[in-house]
Amino acid sequence: MNSSTTKSSINKPFLDISHIDMVFPTPTGGFTALKDVDLKINKGEFISLIGHSGCGKSTVLNIVAGLNQATNGGVLLNNKEVNQPGPERAVVFQNHSLLPWLTAYQNVELAVKQIFKKTMSKAEMRGWIEYNLKLVHMDHAMHKRPDEISGGMKQRVGIARALAMQPEVLLMDEPFGALDALTRAHMQDSLMEIQNELNNTVIMITHDVDEAVLLSDRIVMMTNGPEATIGEILDVQLPRPRNRLALAKDLEYNRLRSEVLTFLYEKQRKVENISINISPPATVPKKRVNQN
Ligand SMILES: Nc1ncnc2c1ncn2[C@@H]1O[C@H](COP(=O)(O)OP(=O)(O)O)[C@@H](O)[C@H]1O
Ligand SMILES: [Mg+2]
Repeated sequence: MNSSTTKSSINKPFLDISHIDMVFPTPTGGFTALKDVDLKINKGEFISLIGHSGCGKSTVLNIVAGLNQATNGGVLLNNKEVNQPGPERAVVFQNHSLLPWLTAYQNVELAVKQIFKKTMSKAEMRGWIEYNLKLVHMDHAMHKRPDEISGGMKQRVGIARALAMQPEVLLMDEPFGALDALTRAHMQDSLMEIQNELNNTVIMITHDVDEAVLLSDRIVMMTNGPEATIGEILDVQLPRPRNRLALAKDLEYNRLRSEVLTFLYEKQRKVENISINISPPATVPKKRVNQN
């Protein structure tokens, strides 16, 4: 036992999301988005949060980030109550959140200065900022402003900024959703390497079943709202490092994948009224045949 491990912390989870309810006030009364969401997370665990749109995934993440306060229950990190944002919990939002008047480099610099100003020299900080921008393949455009780069590139800067903070907890809301398939695969591989090296605890919201299985130690599947809660938790015990090509043919990988699909599309099937009660207008264009 090292000296920093006290007896009382041995059985306590690193991150304890404890019996959370979230009721939003609305003009027609309270809307109970979350009901009794309870999850204990160990240090270094990679958790994916998956569930249909609108079930409450972002609400859970925002509560852990300290941006929202639960109506009942709460969050403990290292035994301390979370009730505001803190640098030990970096957030990557679904839509990048860069300051538009700063370059990619300066956006990362702002976060790095906040955390390492007292412990790193200027040159060390510069090296660290450049290293993190290189990790997300942004070294060629690091002196461009957000309006000069694509949406996917902005997202990558947001990820570099979060990683550069070396957070104990990395909270990511569909971080790779807007990226093209090749960049997404590269980012997933980098994230696995980084997390393996730094042992960050990660909660990532995703819609992508393959991404969830590839990256996670556990996949937390949420029921549909209102009163959304945790429906099932899937343990992913595939050995690391994981290789997407090898796993594509792996029996256990495919079993896990199909469990998630079954949860989403059978057990929590969401019936959406798409194309019901939609009739064409009185005038529709005539088919254009042989007009030239
Ligand atoms: N500030 C708010 N006020 C009222 N309702 C909200 C608010 N934020 C979220 N909701 C509702 O709570 C539910 C969960 O939202 P959210 O966490 O964004 O879902 P998800 O991220 O899973 O798509 C949705 O029905 C949403 O409309
Ligand atoms: Mg969301």
